[in-house]
Amino acid sequence: MAYLEWNDTFSVHVREFDEHHKRIVDMINELREVMEQGTDHAGVADMVHNLIDYASIHFRAEERYMAQFGFAGYEAHEAEHDRFIEQVLGFQKRMSIGETVVPDELLRFLKDWLVKHILGTDKQYSQFFNGKGLQ
Ligand SMILES: [Fe+2]
Repeated sequence: MAYLEWNDTFSVHVREFDEHHKRIVDMINELREVMEQGTDHAGVADMVHNLIDYASIHFRAEERYMAQFGFAGYEAHEAEHDRFIEQVLGFQKRMSIGETVVPDELLRFLKDWLVKHILGTDKQYSQFFNGKGLQ
């Protein structure tokens, strides 16, 4: 069973963003598999790098629509995104200086953050975006 399973309760009712979120879920699961083997440190570093890249692209996409349509929660939402990237960069830095990051610590952070962010923050824009014709 996957570490994190996407299910319909995670849907934000905007297809593009659901696809992005599913991809992020996959990336977290793939990262877990490689981290748990405990040998491929370069592979783990690459995957964390790719996750930061992909999450950034996804966040910019959400932010672009929030800005374009004048969503009231835009700034607070963007701040959550920025904080996430900072935190993952913090993990990345610790790993790059040779500190052993316990897989559970990083994976739990990613999983908990994503679930909480989708359910608590992203879903706040669903109705708003649907009302603007985005679905
Ligand atoms: Fe978001």
